[in-house]
Amino acid sequence: MARYNRLNEIRKIGHRNIEDCPFLRVSHVSQQSPINHEIGGNAMKIISIVASPHGKKGNTARLLDEVLQGARQQGAKLETLLLKGDTVRPCRGCDRCHISGRCPQKDDFETIKQKILAADGLILASPNYIFSVSAQLKAFMDRCCGVVHCLAFEGKYGAAVVTSGGGDEKPIADYMNHFLITTGVHPVGSVWATMGALPEGTFSAETCRQAFELGEKLVKVWQQKKRFKRVDSAMAVFKERMQWLMTYRKNDWPYEYQYWQTHRGMP
Ligand SMILES: Cc1cc2nc3c(=O)[nH]c(=O)nc-3n(C[C@H](O)[C@H](O)[C@H](O)COP(=O)(O)O)c2cc1C
Repeated sequence: MARYNRLNEIRKIGHRNIEDCPFLRVSHVSQQSPINHEIGGNAMKIISIVASPHGKKGNTARLLDEVLQGARQQGAKLETLLLKGDTVRPCRGCDRCHISGRCPQKDDFETIKQKILAADGLILASPNYIFSVSAQLKAFMDRCCGVVHCLAFEGKYGAAVVTSGGGDEKPIADYMNHFLITTGVHPVGSVWATMGALPEGTFSAETCRQAFELGEKLVKVWQQKKRFKRVDSAMAVFKERMQWLMTYRKNDWPYEYQYWQTHRGMP
């Protein structure tokens, strides 16, 4: 209750653009863990991927938790998956996914892919590792190469969450959201926090508010099936590129070519 009273107080300050994010230095540590909430029912089903070796205790999972509070408030069903080590290994570049629709590597990737396919939303959460996403998230993204060729997550909505020690989060969040677009996911926004600028283990009240509102927005946009023009145009450009690729590679990559025939009416 105290949490929502405080959020209402914060709301009175007024909405700030996510890109301007000033740090108000009001300390807050999330009390609830987002990990392993069950998926079910008719509510929006959201899969979140936390790609940090620090797992659910890390800064990124805790910022994601703030986003999930907003999504939960709107009735979403949540499941969070932790990529801490090498449970999703790097792509071997064997092209089998393009040929057969499945990666031959025996790890968690295919299970995670199926969970995302069965969900309505996908949130990616990563720490800033040398001006980019963590190796865990990059491995996952690379393994999605077949998903990207087919934009196989089309129809889902998503968001990006980033934390860093010293900054540079926006280009990383933009990259994550661009990746989402190439999988067919429609991103609704992002949130980030610079931990070095904050008292140990805390987020600013403004960051908490932005995170909470991002979670709410994700569910509302999904409920309304709203589309953002900028996302739609980027997705259309990318889809055209993949369509050309499929025509060019139709004999080499039969699974993907057939996917386009079945799902997109490609001749
Ligand atoms: C290998 C490594 C690379 C990092 N690179 C950067 C960086 O380039 N810029 C930055 O601001 N912080 C960097 N950091 C700090 C993390 O982004 C920051 O501590 C983040 O909040 C960690 O999130 P986590 O607790 O969820 O793992 C790096 C940390 C590690 C371990």
